[in-house]
Amino acid sequence: MKLAVVGATGVVGGEIMRILEERDLGITELVPIATARSAGRVLMHRGREAPVVAISPDSFDGVDIALFDTPDEASLEWAPVAARRGAVVIDNSAAWRMDPEVPLVVPEINPEAAHDRPKGIIASPNCTMLTLALPLGALHRRAGVRRVILSSYQAASGAGQAGADELVEQIAIAASQPDLVGSGRGREVVSRGRVFAHPLAMNVIPQIGSVRADGYTGEEVKVGEETRKVLGLPDLRVTATCVRVPTLVGHAVSVHAEFDDTISADEARAILREAPGVEVLDDTNAGIYPTPLETAGRDPCFVGRIRQDPDDDHALEWFSVTDNLRKGAALNAIQIAELFVPADRLR
Ligand SMILES: NC(=O)c1ccc[n+]([C@@H]2O[C@H](COP(=O)([O-])OP(=O)(O)OC[C@H]3O[C@@H](n4cnc5c(N)ncnc54)[C@H](OP(=O)(O)O)[C@@H]3O)[C@@H](O)[C@H]2O)c1
Repeated sequence: MKLAVVGATGVVGGEIMRILEERDLGITELVPIATARSAGRVLMHRGREAPVVAISPDSFDGVDIALFDTPDEASLEWAPVAARRGAVVIDNSAAWRMDPEVPLVVPEINPEAAHDRPKGIIASPNCTMLTLALPLGALHRRAGVRRVILSSYQAASGAGQAGADELVEQIAIAASQPDLVGSGRGREVVSRGRVFAHPLAMNVIPQIGSVRADGYTGEEVKVGEETRKVLGLPDLRVTATCVRVPTLVGHAVSVHAEFDDTISADEARAILREAPGVEVLDDTNAGIYPTPLETAGRDPCFVGRIRQDPDDDHALEWFSVTDNLRKGAALNAIQIAELFVPADRLR
């Protein structure tokens, strides 16, 4: 099986390369693809050198599966090229997710959708949406969800390698300054970089993506639209406030979800302990709940702080965290690819 990783030099592409060391998809040839800037850079795959190839139509020759981890514009341009050349395309960008002819797949929730792909393209969802949907999907099957209100706490690497680098630089600048607390000098010390609209170190930024006329941001709209599509609930009411926080890896969400049936916290915990792709870390008295730092580099969506709303026995609150680069992007795409292994089922 010949597999292409498009965007292999980016932060999600790098995570794909790491996961492909751990999980055996039966790859006989791996082609890392990026822009001409990266051509010739040598990556490693299972002890063998894999030189990066500049993207071109020919770079998809003979490719069975192409994992796209590129900006939206690059996916829009190149995913159809790869699909026309016969590859199963799995795209991590937002470019195709809401196209009615492109399935949006979370293997733990709707794996069957991957096999109906008129354009030859399968989309992998937004990382914040995955952090919501993995527990929500399991609870919905038991109690029927009707309304979701959430706030997110999203890491700098959600804005790619450049976002992660910008936060690390700002943290270093802040750390070199003595006596910052109470000085009011924070905003003079750390200035705005190229990626985020405000300094991120020592700060939180309540805007991710462009703002629409109704005041919602692109990220907030994606969370609602993609949750409705993956769960097959076109009328589900979802409202989100998405916030960038100064963590490097790991997106967290604080969720209020209302259901048709009554559901207790104990029952929710029992359901989530059995849910695929979910791990419960929930003993607040003992200080046990998920945090981005502890969950980074791990596969599941971690859930804690599970409570029943004291004013509504049909509503639950919880706090969930996933590694945005791993389950939030690279791992989900690889799990979709695994739906097509063995290779004789590819085309
Ligand atoms: N970061 C996350 O948490 C996350 C989560 C879910 C989904 N996503 C999505 O995944 C995609 C990749 O994100 P990222 O965070 O990995 O970004 P990134 O670190 O900026 O990496 C982008 C990659 O795309 C390549 N690229 C850019 N333009 C290209 C073109 N025209 N043709 C071929 N390759 C091109 C870059 O190659 P060069 O190195 O040669 O420039 C690089 O390998 C984005 O669509 C993002 O929205 C990201």
